[in-house]
Amino acid sequence: MPSRRDFFGRLFAGAVITRPAFRNDWLSFVEDATRFVDGRSPAEVAGDEDYWQTIQRAFTIDRTINNLNNGGVSPSPRVVQEAMARYLAISNEAPAYSMWQLVEPQIEQVRQQLARNFGCDPEEMAITRNASEALEIVQLGIHLEKGDEVLTTNQDYGRMLTTYEQRARREGITIRKISFPVPPPSMQDLVDRFEKAIGPRTKVIHCCHITNLTGQIFPIRDIVRMARSRNIEVIVDGAHAYAHFPFQRDDLECDYYGTSLHKWLLAPHGTGFLYVRRDRIADIWPLMAAPPSMDSNIRKFEEIGTHPAANHNAIAEALTFHEAIGAERKAARLRYLRDRWMRRLEGKPRVRLNTSFDPEMSCGLANVGIDGLEPGAIADHLWKTRRIFVTPIVHDEYKGLRITPNVYTRIEEVDDFAVAMEKVLKNGLA
Ligand SMILES: Cc1ncc(COP(=O)(O)O)c(C=O)c1O
Repeated sequence: MPSRRDFFGRLFAGAVITRPAFRNDWLSFVEDATRFVDGRSPAEVAGDEDYWQTIQRAFTIDRTINNLNNGGVSPSPRVVQEAMARYLAISNEAPAYSMWQLVEPQIEQVRQQLARNFGCDPEEMAITRNASEALEIVQLGIHLEKGDEVLTTNQDYGRMLTTYEQRARREGITIRKISFPVPPPSMQDLVDRFEKAIGPRTKVIHCCHITNLTGQIFPIRDIVRMARSRNIEVIVDGAHAYAHFPFQRDDLECDYYGTSLHKWLLAPHGTGFLYVRRDRIADIWPLMAAPPSMDSNIRKFEEIGTHPAANHNAIAEALTFHEAIGAERKAARLRYLRDRWMRRLEGKPRVRLNTSFDPEMSCGLANVGIDGLEPGAIADHLWKTRRIFVTPIVHDEYKGLRITPNVYTRIEEVDDFAVAMEKVLKNGLA
């Protein structure tokens, strides 16, 4: 077995000096590196910079920007970009044949691979263009009558709330939003808040698996069990959860789950999935019409007309890349990066951490505020002075910066952010 120095040194030399000769070389670098750290705990590997440098080199990042907004949308590694370019080139050879007959049918392999990873039957897995589409299919397609109530939170995603508000205007449903502290005192507290807010007409609970604002994880299985015992459906917004931290469908026990794949899975932009439990499919109307013969077919949710096949096929490479790192190792690294900047700022006067350190409650996405300073002004300052890119969040009940590193983020970039925040605390925004 080569020594550690020899192994990673050779890997980097090959990666940096020459472009890989074969299409999946970037992936094999990652697989080789992972084999080298296999057997060590994810927490140990989380701080192994040699290993993470191999991952970093699998991307085409602009390092003049310290991009700490990977929550909105993430870069894809080279192997995904290259796969998408290949599928696009083939599509353009003679699209009615090469895209529709050669490239598009491969969506079935993608469906199988996603279903295996999520832990469901492929016949329960629809491939969509993002979480918005996945969730709106269920939000607009689920049967609700005038006066029926949807229970959600005042920290759910704007577009998803807008969707119910449109149904309220159009059909007279009602929406009730619970509030919760950031971070909450416990996971049970979140279940209790939902339970207490249930009214006689509550038909749906809609909540995030992890919120985009502070990275609060919700105890989905407990919410589903509580709701099911009262005949209430639960729609889970997993936009930021899938491939961020490990879980499978059976850990959640939910019937509906929508996610984006261009966030934490690092898949092509414009990809997502919708899981619907098999016996619920027939009851949900698709967003775009499908014939009655497709009523119980999950593919009715994919009847969207002509669309690029390259994007959804390259999900397969993103999933392979994700599995080459390993879901546990990835989550441990994301927590490690998060802890690194949060521990540095923790306890300093005026610093408000809006995210818990508890691994049950959070992972790589976290939120920090500074009392007396507007998040927008801090974000502007970080960008203008150090090209650090973060997301200002202003909620009625708290405010702060949302920080989302990813697997390609260098330790120095996280440190630069923490140092910049320390300077703001000392000198203000001058
Ligand atoms: C919690 C949450 N739900 C849904 C979405 C919608 O995702 P997309 O824009 O990929 O459809 C987002 C996007 O950031 C989100 O944060």
